[in-house]
Amino acid sequence: MTDSLFGSRISGGNTAYERVGSDFYPTPPEATEALMDYLALPSGTTIWEPACGEGHMSEVFIGRGYPTVSSDINDTGYGQPGIDFLDCDIRESDWIITNPPFALAESFIARCNEIGKPFALLLKSQFWHARRRFDLFETHKPSAILPLTWRPDFLFKQRGGGSPLMDCIWCVWDGSGETIYQPLRRPGKGR
Ligand SMILES: C[S@@+](CC[C@H](N)C(=O)[O-])C[C@H]1O[C@@H](n2cnc3c(N)ncnc32)[C@H](O)[C@@H]1O
Repeated sequence: MTDSLFGSRISGGNTAYERVGSDFYPTPPEATEALMDYLALPSGTTIWEPACGEGHMSEVFIGRGYPTVSSDINDTGYGQPGIDFLDCDIRESDWIITNPPFALAESFIARCNEIGKPFALLLKSQFWHARRRFDLFETHKPSAILPLTWRPDFLFKQRGGGSPLMDCIWCVWDGSGETIYQPLRRPGKGR
């Protein structure tokens, strides 16, 4: 497959190719590191990663000392398998943080709101550029929209790193005031 098809494929573009099963795209650690630098959560904050895949985000939380619960609908060999985030018992946690399957992003937002804990989701940059999401934005306004100022390579596992592929934003809902818009630097890349 050509690079452009890879890029289109993971960003949800219209190609003849199917997206991988359950939208399993592991998040390169620096994307999670950037969010955690921004959030600066107090030590002891517990985090639920409810679509943990192979644990690429969970391992960043754990590496920073946060008690972390990891689950996934699939058996990925990491965390607790067979847990459909949209229809499961709620795990005890202070925060929910994940990179949801893109096709279910809106359902994940609704479910997180229903649970009522602060949460952060990694989304495509264009996520809010859709008329049908206008009401969602109005009713569940994020407290922060945090564009990544680089393009994470979600195929870094298969391809050993390389081509930047997708513009992303972190969206945070923590119940605080007006929506902050704050681009994030790539950790470790200097100023
Ligand atoms: C884009 S991958 C992200 C994996 C991991 N969060 C990461 O960032 O590396 C999406 C994950 O969501 C899982 N998933 C899909 N539907 C789900 C659901 N309804 N409940 C829980 N996990 C789900 C998939 O199995 C997959 O591991």
